[in-house]
Amino acid sequence: MKHTITLIPGDGIGPEVTEAVVRILNASGVQIEWEPQLAGVLALERTGHTLPVDLLDSIRRNKVALKGPVTTPIAEGFTSVNVGLRKALDLFANLRPVWNLPGVDSRFQGVDLVVVRENTEDLYAGLEHQVVDGVVESLKIITERASTRIAQFAFSHARRHGRRKVTAIHKANIMKLSDGLFLECSRRTAREYADIKYDERIVDAACMHLVINPAQFDVLLLPNLYGDIVSDLCAGLVGGLGVVGAANLGTEVAVFEAVHGSAPDIAGKLMANPTALLLSAVLMLEHIDERDAARRIMHALGAVLSAGAVRTRDLGGAASTLEFADAVCRALAD
Ligand code: NAI
Repeated sequence: MKHTITLIPGDGIGPEVTEAVVRILNASGVQIEWEPQLAGVLALERTGHTLPVDLLDSIRRNKVALKGPVTTPIAEGFTSVNVGLRKALDLFANLRPVWNLPGVDSRFQGVDLVVVRENTEDLYAGLEHQVVDGVVESLKIITERASTRIAQFAFSHARRHGRRKVTAIHKANIMKLSDGLFLECSRRTAREYADIKYDERIVDAACMHLVINPAQFDVLLLPNLYGDIVSDLCAGLVGGLGVVGAANLGTEVAVFEAVHGSAPDIAGKLMANPTALLLSAVLMLEHIDERDAARRIMHALGAVLSAGAVRTRDLGGAASTLEFADAVCRALAD
């Protein structure tokens, strides 16, 4: 079966890692017609919009997109394209499986957890204003609807993937109403899933427990901001941002993207590691029911990383982005 998939190369290292991943997916034999679309600063220059209508239409039509990172200016300029995309397409769940890849050194071995982050509200609502000179307010929005929806997602994901436990992470001791509501929705949902264990941690203590003994966690359920921070912490447990994939899922559409950003410090130097985007693409292949290709790509990636001869700089090697991709393609053909 041929799939039509929206491809957003993004900017910075985005086009480099995207080219590498498309090369590997094509070598896997999956039939994909890519529909390239611009986003962010490149789209702004060409169309006057950071999230052009053509891009949104393409994703709505195809239901699936593979996305490279897109730069967001800090403290000024346009609002985040990534946040805008999630809101425009109601991609309410951010899913980040975190586990050790063969041959990648990290502080821990045996990590196997899934971060489920609410993707549409919380402080990411972006509702900020200046009250008076020297005082600004940023509104933290937590709704029963979004909290219940993400809790349902986490528990049903746990059940479908044979996971044992969901841990809700919060700061309801301080934010009694907002995080309190998130927690109440998590507890209510937990009662519908008697086969899955449920517990709770305060976010600061959860961070400490994660860096002492990550193996005690299974599925983590978090509101947007804590989810953003804790998921990068979790990436650090298994080797960093270059080796963790992610999916943004809605009821209708799904956008698969790497955890890392556009890495302006190494952009154009052809040294970016395409592994994180490749892992996101593997999640995408599973989503479109191309499980055999997903399994073969994981096998080939594992073989290249374990052999160790071809590695990008972040993993201690000297290979370029495309040299690494070609090594994975060769392993696919073996
Ligand atoms: P970053 O993830 O781009 O970079 C952090 C560090 O990790 C840098 O030293 C970079 O060289 C390294 N790195 C990242 N990806 C790598 C890869 N694939 N291979 C090797 N090294 C890699 O984070 P930063 O610097 O905070 O953000 C840069 C820009 O990216 C910002 O404009 C930010 O808004 C945007 N961003 C976009 C995201 C997205 O499109 N989903 C997600 C996160 C950040």
